[in-house]
Amino acid sequence: TQSEKTSKKYVLVTGGAGYIGSHTVAELIENGYECVVVDNLCNSSYESVARLQLLTDHYIPFCEVDLCDREGLAKVFEEYNIDSVIHFAGLKAVGESTQIPLRYFHNNILGTLVLLELMEQYNVSKLVFSSSATVYGDATRFPNMIPIPEECPLGPTNPYGHTKFTIEKILNDLYLSNKSMWKFAILRYFNPIGAHPSGLIGEDPLGIPNNLLPYMAQVAVGRREKLYVFGDDYETRDGTPIRDYIHVVDLAKGHIAALKYLDHNASEGICREWNLGSGTGSTVFEVHRAFCNASGKDIPYEVTGRRAGDVVNLTAKPDRAERELKWHTELDVGMACSDLWKWATGNPYGYQLKGVEAKFGE
Ligand code: NAD
Ligand code: WQD
Repeated sequence: TQSEKTSKKYVLVTGGAGYIGSHTVAELIENGYECVVVDNLCNSSYESVARLQLLTDHYIPFCEVDLCDREGLAKVFEEYNIDSVIHFAGLKAVGESTQIPLRYFHNNILGTLVLLELMEQYNVSKLVFSSSATVYGDATRFPNMIPIPEECPLGPTNPYGHTKFTIEKILNDLYLSNKSMWKFAILRYFNPIGAHPSGLIGEDPLGIPNNLLPYMAQVAVGRREKLYVFGDDYETRDGTPIRDYIHVVDLAKGHIAALKYLDHNASEGICREWNLGSGTGSTVFEVHRAFCNASGKDIPYEVTGRRAGDVVNLTAKPDRAERELKWHTELDVGMACSDLWKWATGNPYGYQLKGVEAKFGE
């Protein structure tokens, strides 16, 4: 009813059934926010929302809606009193984006445009956006810019990165058109890893994982034979590339910090970027060792050639987030590996039913 609509304020979480979104919903509820999740489930399952309700002991409204479906999304704005939006929904596989770029542009950019148009229509002004360190491209082309500050020139090198870069520009231009209205926090994540310490929610990639930690976890639970290390001939301490891995729970907390910042420090409107990383880089071999320790397994690996598009080092300078959002990471790679291991052993087939169907259905 209308009275219900006006009494409760909601954070609209697009892509909230996905990996980072679900961990952020857990954190939001823990901090007293009410959430409504919108997701088309193209890369996730409703089971994550069901688990979130179990975890938080809280009802979480879920709408299976594609952001590109304007009428469907308008109904959500109609039904709920949306106070702010955290926008995770998007396609995220770098390799796939080079194969089907139109799908990436359509989904990520149009989805965001429809969302922004409805925010304008319903007078919702606060948005936290999932950007990515991928917008920096190969930041090592500026050797004095590792660790990478937000001021580092951007230069994404693949269609996925171009969608993030374009959306950042759209947010900037929109803010400039009405500076007193819009409040945008652009969060550039480095490499999110790990899972919720409860073991109830985690990352559940469809098909063969693209990313290092999910791949290693599938080797450890016996779903895959060995890890392929994509090159050990980089100019680093052990020859493998360096990344700034960040525990997904720390990352989720960064969104609460950003929302609070928009609420308390942005009375004039804002559009600003923050790196969310730890400031510490780890090599592939270091992460492999950490995961072997956490799991107690000797994970077999083979070094193969470099993966196209990989860069030698992506490490964040997270000082701006520390200074302004009062946020920094609290968990390390070892803890992320332990939490990932708990999730992987409890859910070797992710959110799918355990057992034969899952195994043969792959
Ligand atoms: P994810 O795929 O687990 O979550 C994204 C969710 O969005 C999925 O549940 C998917 O079903 C949904 N979705 C996609 N298109 C949609 C649409 N048109 N309408 C409604 N729902 C849609 O990915 P994630 O790892 O949780 O990433 C969340 C966000 O963070 C993405 O925007 C991603 O690009 C960004 N990001 C991720 C990483 C990473 O390494 N995981 C790093 C930097 C940035
Ligand atoms: C990490 C390291 C690989 C898999 C990606 C996106 C980035 C952002 C985060 C969304 C690299 C090595 C990996 C494997 C390996 N996502 N590796 N064997 O490429 O740093 O970042 O996710 O915004 O945009 O590009 O993460 O986990 O794929 O790779 O040796 O099977 O592990 O070469 O050095 P990446 P990743």
